[in-house]
Amino acid sequence: MRARIFPDYEAMSAAAADAVARRVSEDPSSVLLLPTGTTPLGMYRRLVDLCRLGDVSFAEATFFNLDEYLGLLPDHPASYHVYMKEHFYGLIDADPARIFVPDGAALDPEAECERYEAAIKESGGVDVCVLGIGRNGHIGFNEPGAPFDSRTRVVTLSESTRLVNAADFEANRAPERAITVGMATIAESREVLLLASDTNKAKAVAAALEGEVSESMPASMLGHHPRATLFLDEDAASGLGQGVAG
Ligand code: PGA
Repeated sequence: MRARIFPDYEAMSAAAADAVARRVSEDPSSVLLLPTGTTPLGMYRRLVDLCRLGDVSFAEATFFNLDEYLGLLPDHPASYHVYMKEHFYGLIDADPARIFVPDGAALDPEAECERYEAAIKESGGVDVCVLGIGRNGHIGFNEPGAPFDSRTRVVTLSESTRLVNAADFEANRAPERAITVGMATIAESREVLLLASDTNKAKAVAAALEGEVSESMPASMLGHHPRATLFLDEDAASGLGQGVAG
């Protein structure tokens, strides 16, 4: 895993967007596995701009999302269906038939997880996976302790994750469970980009990059990945090289 450090959020976002756009231009039928959250918003903005300028087309690409809250209808304002439509899928030339987001309202969530994992496999597997990182080191909704051999499944969110995400929900209560793509599925992606911005990620970034590879720090799994790159702004990189990584 290597790290690229940029002066600020905009530069980090632009570099990540350019890396994704380059990959899709080289292979227009690329399969992308994509994150939600605050961090990737700048990357999505630039990808939308590049698409509008005609510099990249997503018409033949396939899209999967990393996760979705369990129990939310796809039109719930805090759902990742809505997030992706508003910030990316609704603004580019994507083919709706090739956009996949886990159905958090599925009557049989276990069957939905199996269906989702099978759809990733049928697509030929993920070419580019873009990740954020939680303050606790989670990737997707794989919280600390997530087995490295896990697949798409229903998970219970940690209290700290629910607190960070609470503001998106009525009465400040985030759902307790979610569907997430698993660690093994992320690890099998041919290329992984992990984006981090802000000092509140510095500790997790340092532990992921400089600490031991351990299921207690999910992002550290990328230490074993042949093509994983961390895109960091200076704030997110501020904990590196201090020997504090656990
Ligand atoms: P954030 O979330 O980009 O909103 O900080 C990242 C994550 O929790 O994976």
